Amino acid sequence: MQTNQPARLPEPEHPPEFYLSEIKNIMQVRRRGEAPMALIHTYGCQQNVADSEKIKGLLAQMGFFFTENEEEADFILFNTCAVRGHAENRVFGNVGAVKELKHRHPQLIVAVCGCMMEEQQASEHIRRKFPFVNLVFGTHVLHRFPELFWTALTESRRVFERGDEQEDARIVEGLPVRRDGTSRAWLTVMYGCDNFCSYCIVPYVRGRERSREPEAILQEFRSVVDGGYKDITLLGQNVNSYGKKLAKPVSFAELLRMLDAVDGDYRLRFMTSHPKDATHELIDTMAAGRHISHHLHLPVQSGSNRVLKEMNRRYTREKYLELVEYARKKIPDLSLTTDIIVGFPGETYEEFRETVSLIREVGFTSLFTFIYSPREGTRAALLPDPIPAEEKSKWLQELCAEQEKISAVRCAGEVGKTCRVLVESRNEKNGLLTGRTDGNVVVLFPGEKGMVGNFVNVKITAARNWILSGELIQ
Ligand code: 5AD
Ligand code: SF4
Repeated sequence: MQTNQPARLPEPEHPPEFYLSEIKNIMQVRRRGEAPMALIHTYGCQQNVADSEKIKGLLAQMGFFFTENEEEADFILFNTCAVRGHAENRVFGNVGAVKELKHRHPQLIVAVCGCMMEEQQASEHIRRKFPFVNLVFGTHVLHRFPELFWTALTESRRVFERGDEQEDARIVEGLPVRRDGTSRAWLTVMYGCDNFCSYCIVPYVRGRERSREPEAILQEFRSVVDGGYKDITLLGQNVNSYGKKLAKPVSFAELLRMLDAVDGDYRLRFMTSHPKDATHELIDTMAAGRHISHHLHLPVQSGSNRVLKEMNRRYTREKYLELVEYARKKIPDLSLTTDIIVGFPGETYEEFRETVSLIREVGFTSLFTFIYSPREGTRAALLPDPIPAEEKSKWLQELCAEQEKISAVRCAGEVGKTCRVLVESRNEKNGLLTGRTDGNVVVLFPGEKGMVGNFVNVKITAARNWILSGELIQ
């Protein structure tokens, strides 16, 4: 029976292995002994990528193989992002497009999960507009995916499940992970966010900040290093407040030192750092690290103190610049990247120009720029927003044009230097390898396929459009 409220399931009746093997049996019967196929579409940030890798780990244990071709899929999952309206509309469009496929393959199971599915209206929209969707679950109940999937399969009803206070507070360890890449790995160190920046939906859909125990992180980290991954990124919405609420508090800098002490041929990155919590201790740890990359993603959002205050960011332009100055002094080859929101409600052109002046002053390697998108339920969504969308687009173009000049100068400054590059792939047509520097900049250079997945030294010979070219140094 369907109701307007999500049908809450009681606590699972069986241990997780039960659901995994039951689903495996059901799918085998359905496929008459052939392996079932799954297709996962992931939207949004690296945290979602990491979540999809856990879901893939569970699906692999249910006997699924993976495909990019929806015609051969038995199970299609959309892992959604709620950060901006544009991403949400894309999800609705793409889920809607599956209707025709489901019509042709009635056995197809369609699921939607992720941040959007923690929002009441978005999950209701799926319930009403897309009756062919079998299973909907939010981020807080990801670990219950096998049980929810089994219910949808065996009870032939639609299953809708979101988090509650109790689920919110929980960290579930030990879920299997099936990583997408062979050289880059994502490792979540904390979940949720307590900052409530006034524009941001994340604290509402990912719940309160909670950190994994350092021992659990260390164990997973060791297995990732042993697995041959060479570019490992620690993930959290605000990694600098890692460990504050643990029974035995541990700072993020301490965690970094603990992981950095693990021997191996790898590079360690982390994101995202909130400027209000990034400390000199963190910078000193980066400077002294053996494996810690000299790359810091430090979202500034705006260069205007009034706008920062309205955004509830709790730092000033001056504090941000002081931190950058300290970091550059300690780590002269530091690569800095940032996020910027253009057109926050009430932002004036003069305030926007303060952001332009800040990016000039800092000289970022690259920017991630976003036009403000109102999110229902956040404080900023209630503020008057008189600047028309076309005007905001012009500001965004102005900002990007400025950054292009800055990036061009920075890239030109790399020419002649020798960089340690992790090789990611080879283009068989032109024989060029693609790799990434410690500062996360892409480099192209001629080389052999056998080098993929290894670190090599490359002398930079030219720079064009943020991409460096070079030649191998033996
Ligand atoms: N509108 C536009 N950009 C946003 N971000 C977060 N919320 C919004 C919003 N409502 C951006 C911020 C954040 C990045 C992940 O997404 O810049 O750092
Ligand atoms: Fe959103 Fe701010 Fe938390 Fe980042 S720190 S997830 S922008 S509320």
